[in-house]
Amino acid sequence: MTGNLPLTKKDFPEGFRWGIATSAAQIEGAAFEDGKGPEIWDIFSRIPGKTFGGQTPDQACDYYHKYPEQLGMMKELGFDSHRFSFSWSRIMPDGTGKVNRKGVDFYKSAIDRMLELGLMPNATLYHWDLPQELEYRGGFLNRDVVNWFTEYAGFLFETFGDVVPMWSTFNEPIATYVGYALGVFAPGRKLEKFGRQANHNLLCAHGSAVKRFREIFGRKKDVFDPAGPNVGIVVDVWHHHPARPDDPGDAALAELENEKAYRSYLHPLFKGGYSGALLKYMADNDCLPDMLPGDFELIRQPLDFFGLNCYNRVVDSTDPASVRKSVEFAGGNYMDNGAEFYPKAIYDALRILKEDFGVGIPVYITENGTYNCEEEVVTGPGGTERVHDVTRIRYIQGFLEWLKKALDEGYDVRGYYLWTLLDNFEWPAGNSMRFGIVRTEYGAPSYIMKDSACMMKDFLRP
Ligand code: BGC
Repeated sequence: MTGNLPLTKKDFPEGFRWGIATSAAQIEGAAFEDGKGPEIWDIFSRIPGKTFGGQTPDQACDYYHKYPEQLGMMKELGFDSHRFSFSWSRIMPDGTGKVNRKGVDFYKSAIDRMLELGLMPNATLYHWDLPQELEYRGGFLNRDVVNWFTEYAGFLFETFGDVVPMWSTFNEPIATYVGYALGVFAPGRKLEKFGRQANHNLLCAHGSAVKRFREIFGRKKDVFDPAGPNVGIVVDVWHHHPARPDDPGDAALAELENEKAYRSYLHPLFKGGYSGALLKYMADNDCLPDMLPGDFELIRQPLDFFGLNCYNRVVDSTDPASVRKSVEFAGGNYMDNGAEFYPKAIYDALRILKEDFGVGIPVYITENGTYNCEEEVVTGPGGTERVHDVTRIRYIQGFLEWLKKALDEGYDVRGYYLWTLLDNFEWPAGNSMRFGIVRTEYGAPSYIMKDSACMMKDFLRP
């Protein structure tokens, strides 16, 4: 796999979806407008030192006001779907109870626009932005989050179920762990036990929302229906590899990290409980969550599709200095942003889903992308500004080659969503990590095309 093959969408199956993925807090802005309640990143980002330069999601890409133009760009580049998330506190400012009509109207207009443009709406209910009012009540540590989330989910299913064919409950549950165990994400709590409890409650909330979905739409089988509505969840799989495979310390570390990360979600979702290894780790480290009888039946609901976010792999070692050496020795390499270039990660993740967890439902790659990459703005002939992002092009092509290999081998993947259209609010990194294929000039009304956007346009040409 060289990353140099000029693949085009014609190398992929007919009807394969090509989309752009985004999330509410990262693009919408209008953080305090039209009745939206504060969410945890509005508050967390104001704590000194929590985000790069103290940057907040207040304005982001101003999608709230500029969605017609931004959706138009997706269409113009040739994409046929938009994966977006609803802002819970824009819909229900306090998290439960009263609905904010202006928020509902905003999503109605944005979805109508997507449909007019031929962009299939693919909605996520929760992408890391818990209403702050709910955080005051304990957030994901409070078991009531199961009911709060089900009420919110039920409202959206009933309101938009006829026009949105794909629904994910949660995006990357691990972010909630990071926010409650490591303190790096909102809400900034820092105890392993909190992280495990928050994750357990989140998984129960997922199961309960899927049940609500079935109650409303009446379809009980895990069969994907292109006309929708379908329900799933989005989990990121960053497989951990030992830097020195023959070193027992490295191998044990990578194994434990896999248990603590993606397996801690896939096991309950597809196997009906936590793995023995994770249970042992949690018992040994005094971080077993409170679990109720029936929780694992609740969590293991049949799903219609699985959303896979895949950016890279992780290489672990008890001797961190050996990591880079071992990757270079094994023929791996690094991009100019410091991340390893390992496009096989997508193939490995699909294999893990199928072989280790028996996932037989259609898979969508719900996110893949990379950041920065020599993002200097240059002025070309005729005065047009451009950004040359060679590394991003190589990264995307590399992943698409491995994705194609998986498809050729019979993996049931139905779509690929690029992260993302515009540089946006990248959580603790604020606006400093640029993931877009189009450059956002913060505060200015203009956008600058990157070479990767032109590459995607060529790739997607009918
Ligand atoms: C998240 C996005 C984030 C992206 C890049 C994903 O894990 O879902 O919200 O912007 O990674 O860091």
